[in-house]
Amino acid sequence: MSFTAKRYDFRDKAADYASLAAELAGLLAGERDYIANAANTCALLFDALPVLNWVGFYFLRGTQAAGELVVGPFQGKPACVRIPLGKGVCGTAAATRRTIVVHDVHDFPGHIACDSASNAEVVIPLIKDGALLGVLDLDSPQIGRFDDSDRHGLERLAEVFLSATDVAEPGGPAPRHPPERR
Ligand code: SME
Repeated sequence: MSFTAKRYDFRDKAADYASLAAELAGLLAGERDYIANAANTCALLFDALPVLNWVGFYFLRGTQAAGELVVGPFQGKPACVRIPLGKGVCGTAAATRRTIVVHDVHDFPGHIACDSASNAEVVIPLIKDGALLGVLDLDSPQIGRFDDSDRHGLERLAEVFLSATDVAEPGGPAPRHPPERR
């Protein structure tokens, strides 16, 4: 298995995240569907960022008081589907509404291992108009892969995704027009 450097080398993280944010805004321009934009966001990140083995979304189903995270569009190996709020890195970031940077996942109590290649992780909560919508989760095989510059850069990318995308009613993204019953 190899994890090669990708399109940005991130020697200047602030500059490269700014370029990537502009690239993401361009990619999402003209489309507001949350599944389409989530899919293209994680595809761009997985293609652009070095040393990652998983990037994807978990969306909140139900309310923050009584809900769970359900996997959405992602790049990488098949993942755990449902994560209760407050559990794992994703559920903790969602419940606390704070980005969590994990230097070594083996030191994070309750970490949920989906891909044994993962050694470091960062999870960014997605909050729009005060409502928790889910999280953006990135995993790396390299211990210490994510630092404070990554946190800032990825929070900016999450903001670009949120402002480019229509999300549904409080309680989580849902199709506006459910399929008709036959
Ligand atoms: N490690 C996460 C679970 C999701 S996977 O990394 C894709 C967690 O502890 O919540």
